[in-house]
Amino acid sequence: MNHLLGIAGLDTATIAKLLADADDYSKHLRSVGSSSERRIDDRINRRDRRILTLFFENSTRTIQSFQAAAHRLGLQVVDLAIPRSSVEKGESFHDTLLTIRSLAFDVVIIRHPSTGAAHYAARILNCPVVNAGDGIGEHPTQALIDALTITQHEGAIEGKTIAIVGDIRHSRVARSNVHLLTKLGAEVRLTGPPTMLPHPDAYPGVLITPDRDEALRGSDVVMALRVQRERQSGALIGSEAEYRRGWGIDLEVLSRCCPGALVMHPGPVNRGIELASEILDHPRCVIGEQVRNGVAVRMAVLNWLITTEENAQ
Ligand code: NCD
Repeated sequence: MNHLLGIAGLDTATIAKLLADADDYSKHLRSVGSSSERRIDDRINRRDRRILTLFFENSTRTIQSFQAAAHRLGLQVVDLAIPRSSVEKGESFHDTLLTIRSLAFDVVIIRHPSTGAAHYAARILNCPVVNAGDGIGEHPTQALIDALTITQHEGAIEGKTIAIVGDIRHSRVARSNVHLLTKLGAEVRLTGPPTMLPHPDAYPGVLITPDRDEALRGSDVVMALRVQRERQSGALIGSEAEYRRGWGIDLEVLSRCCPGALVMHPGPVNRGIELASEILDHPRCVIGEQVRNGVAVRMAVLNWLITTEENAQ
């Protein structure tokens, strides 16, 4: 059975297919606009297909874009609101998965604070599972969104220098992006406070440095990340002002990248900490496009999983 649990387990042919399909969907979504023609893919005419979103952590853009993607593909989408579920009565994660399995969904999309939770779910459930973020593990659809957005602006990933700035150690977005962008031939550099950087040998061939300027110099893309206080056990930065001075991005800092460098962020942004307000209004800041591409990428992923299942039957 096919799942999307991480970029680490994905072959290059599948990555290329998902990015190409997502690019087609994104062009189509742009041409039809948001109000017209809700369903845009008649290759899937499957009102009997039911997708479950199972989010044990908060989400705005990820859950909304998975649901929008399912609607666009003509699939039914059901959300299990955890605060109103039997999880609140003490039902374990394992038993919740057994219940979901009995209810027979066609794809389950899961977000959970524990690293490895999506892999665990894939072993229990009898349908494809999509990892929408597991602790500090992976967030594969976010990395696909970021790769699509860079490709649409820069023409390709190969040969580009991409600096990821911030709380790398606790970021599933950073982990999935390092795997994906290096597979696609980018030079990836990681920078942030020393307490938030991975082990120097974590990713062979990737520059890991606390020196923001060393990472940013000549880069084509700068991707800022949120400081994830909910995943840290102690105070890993002295103060917000210290973080801003050392690793925040404003117009002056941006001028150290290549002229015309893209600014990205998976959201949610701590405005004024990792990105200055002037950057959020900058024409090279593509955060809105990343959110829009979320629907297209998730359409490509759902279509791939459902089509593969149908072909296997
Ligand atoms: C990220 C996440 O939840 O992993 N957000 C997202 O999905 N766009 C990053 C974050 O929470 O900082």
